[in-house]
Amino acid sequence: MVELKICRTKASEAKSGPLLTRSTAEGAAARLLRCPPHLRGHAVDRRAEGSDTLRFLRSWKAAPLRVAAIAPSSGALAALITSEIEMHHAPVIELGPGTGVFTKALIARGLDPEALTLIELDAEFASLLRVRFPQAQVLEMSAARLRVQTLFSGRKAGAAISGLGLLSMSPRTVMAILAGTFFHLRPDAAFYQFTYGPRCPVPRPVLDRLGLDAERIGGTFRNLPPASVYRIRRVSPAPQRLYSAHGY
Ligand SMILES: C[S@@+](CC[C@H](N)C(=O)[O-])C[C@H]1O[C@@H](n2cnc3c(N)ncnc32)[C@H](O)[C@@H]1O
Repeated sequence: MVELKICRTKASEAKSGPLLTRSTAEGAAARLLRCPPHLRGHAVDRRAEGSDTLRFLRSWKAAPLRVAAIAPSSGALAALITSEIEMHHAPVIELGPGTGVFTKALIARGLDPEALTLIELDAEFASLLRVRFPQAQVLEMSAARLRVQTLFSGRKAGAAISGLGLLSMSPRTVMAILAGTFFHLRPDAAFYQFTYGPRCPVPRPVLDRLGLDAERIGGTFRNLPPASVYRIRRVSPAPQRLYSAHGY
């Protein structure tokens, strides 16, 4: 919802209704906590979920553009974004894991936690992830710096999933994130990204420059707000310099 707030123009705002304000966001989070579990996807441990929602809301208040969501993703969205990832894709990179909803889904699909590297910028989320997933590698850093980071001792990953709010980032930063991540992926590997918006959150010029293409693999209404997932893959070799020039 925060993604939408940042990207909407006045004209689209007029069409789609008022934007989310901080106070309505707090109301939405409070409603989310009262919402029956079947409407939110999974609810295995309601208390843990509730405290994660409050943690999220706190982080969002401190850095709304960075956190870009007022609540963790639902189990339904986690199941969708990890649906094509199998054990043979290991190792796997996760960007912006937050409280670890997608991480948990990857492990439930059979991925060994040791084969996961979690890239999280927020210090509080990074500490929480270290406690929740002690065998995974948690790197507290920006995903935009991945190009200059060694991962898995140089072994290439079979997939990447991203919970980053790309719509609140500049095209330059999105370019750095995509270029850096694809540098660490095998040639046939895919990058999975969710969005609350109506189209792929990676701008077309960025996809074209990096020789990538995006395909929507599905969507779910069992998330607040409803979300779609895109699979991004290499379709043509991009000039090597693009994958090395964006390591900032
Ligand atoms: C929309 S939240 C998604 C969290 C989680 N994946 C989920 O779906 O519930 C975005 C997450 O990305 C993190 N983040 C934002 N910018 C980042 C960056 N440049 N590098 C790494 N993590 C970042 C935020 O701290 C936050 O945890």
